[in-house]
Amino acid sequence: MNQSEIDFFDALAPTWDENEILSTPERVRSILEKLKISKGMDILDLGTGTGVLLPYLSEMVGDMGHVSAIDLSEGMLTLARKKYGNLNNVEFLKIDFEEEQIPGKYDVAILYSVYPHLHTPADTMEWLFKVNMKPDGVIVIAFPSDEIFINNIHHERKASHDHLPPAHTLAEIINNWGFRATVLAATPEEYIIEVKNDKN
Ligand SMILES: C[S@@+](CC[C@H](N)C(=O)[O-])C[C@H]1O[C@@H](n2cnc3c(N)ncnc32)[C@H](O)[C@@H]1O
Repeated sequence: MNQSEIDFFDALAPTWDENEILSTPERVRSILEKLKISKGMDILDLGTGTGVLLPYLSEMVGDMGHVSAIDLSEGMLTLARKKYGNLNNVEFLKIDFEEEQIPGKYDVAILYSVYPHLHTPADTMEWLFKVNMKPDGVIVIAFPSDEIFINNIHHERKASHDHLPPAHTLAEIINNWGFRATVLAATPEEYIIEVKNDKN
């Protein structure tokens, strides 16, 4: 992320939770239940923001599991720490995950409402699979809505360049990069793509 993008998310941070009305407990649980997360797993929450997924992920992996919550916006990360710093199995890291190396190996890496903001998604996925994912690890691209909703928001916020294609189109693009993408949901409430790496 460049400085103007960091400033953009820092400015959004204080009102993020009141405006993010789609991530209701029911919807977040429904999305996460499709990801086969279980006790003892190591999870990467890439672009955790104010930590909307953290209480659910923390509970799903339990005491033997671990969640690394990554963000580059200090504004977002400060709020996430304030809300969920008490969760013993969650670690907060200020890292640009497209530029810097994340410590650890993970079963699942989740990009929740984050994918359109990536600069080099193919290279980032390649790097994550190489460095951070366990042998059967998966990267998940998810949203609590469809692409129409997301693109409208980005249009209103003058961030139309952060465009999200329909789930089946994005899965095809990712397959053309040499990964194996499966659409797990493509409804007005859930957009979920699971990406595996068959290159090893
Ligand atoms: C739209 S917000 C979503 C936040 C959270 N996942 C949610 O759904 O509430 C995108 C977040 O990704 C973070 N982000 C985007 N690109 C990043 C990068 N390369 N490294 C670290 N964080 C990044 C931003 O700072 C921002 O907090």
